[in-house]
Amino acid sequence: MSVVRSAITGVGSYLPEKIVTNDDLAKFVDTSDEWIVERTGIRQRHQAADDQPTSDLAVEAALKALADAGRSASDVDMIIVATTTPDSTFPATAAIVQAKIGAPVGIVFDVQAVCSGFVYALSVADGFVARGLSKCALVIGAEEMTRLMDWQDRTTCVLFGDGAGAVVVEPREGQGTKADQGLLGFALRADGSKKDLLYVDGGPATTGTVGHLRMLGNQVFRHAVVNIAEAITLACEAAGLEIAEVDWFVPHQANQRIIKGVGDRLGLDEDKVVLTVAQHANTSAASIPLALDAAIRDGRIKRGEVVLLEAMGGGLTWGACAFRL
Ligand code: ACO
Repeated sequence: MSVVRSAITGVGSYLPEKIVTNDDLAKFVDTSDEWIVERTGIRQRHQAADDQPTSDLAVEAALKALADAGRSASDVDMIIVATTTPDSTFPATAAIVQAKIGAPVGIVFDVQAVCSGFVYALSVADGFVARGLSKCALVIGAEEMTRLMDWQDRTTCVLFGDGAGAVVVEPREGQGTKADQGLLGFALRADGSKKDLLYVDGGPATTGTVGHLRMLGNQVFRHAVVNIAEAITLACEAAGLEIAEVDWFVPHQANQRIIKGVGDRLGLDEDKVVLTVAQHANTSAASIPLALDAAIRDGRIKRGEVVLLEAMGGGLTWGACAFRL
């Protein structure tokens, strides 16, 4: 049976120039490179310039993804930006990106699911593309998490970084089987009753300020391992895949120990897991497309292979997506 699949036809990413090492942080907060590396695997993070808003990072990643797909901005009919650090409360950062790249009038909006934002946004794009409502969609994860840091709080400020990653999603004809190119299965979940474990203590309708990120790290950690393992299992089931059939796992890059914990729980082969947390730190919704792009660019992930994306973040939200590149 012929079906329309949503396929990832191009991938791109961008990291701001400035690199902040663990030793740089240790100059003004009571921490050490040794502690950060041992507890998280993070060695450095990138930080946007003062005059470089989230949309600028998104534009750089989007243009690379379009070039990779052999498309130009004039082809784009939908832009979804997953971000928790928008340029402004409104308009959507996606609208700002649309104007900056010169894309024609189309469907544009942001998705807010924090670190799970890219997986959520991809599932939304799948709905539009598979139903014929979009022929060329840009799905972007772009974040400037360093803007949300309380630089006196060592339990959070060492964990996050800035960056952006983007994919182009286009329709491809498939047979409705797991051999098809394209998005094959999703699992998405949220539990708002756990909102106090990870949140920002500001907002336009409460304090009138942007606020700072607050987190009960070890509780988030425990939920992350269980929830992500569940999401991977469910996404594979939805795609009709055995976990052993997955060629590459591209996890949200929050903490190397979370990624290892999930791997141990599911018996994943470590060589199949893409890790960029050491270089990028946690870039929230940007971390998955950044890692995906890195592993495609260095030749690890190839066309035709099965990739599994997974994430958990504030909300709590979590989810996973299986696709064939
Ligand atoms: N440098 C030095 N010491 C620190 C630092 C730091 N940067 N941060 C905390 N500590 C201290 C604490 O004060 C505590 O000291 P105490 O024992 O004297 O009280 C000690 O280290 C242990 O603190 P814990 O919070 O128990 O340390 P833990 O091993 O849990 O590691 C961490 C903390 C890294 C935050 C971990 O819990 C974690 O990664 N949690 C997941 C959170 C996460 O990644 N969230 C991102 C968003 S959600 C997501 O993306 C999955």
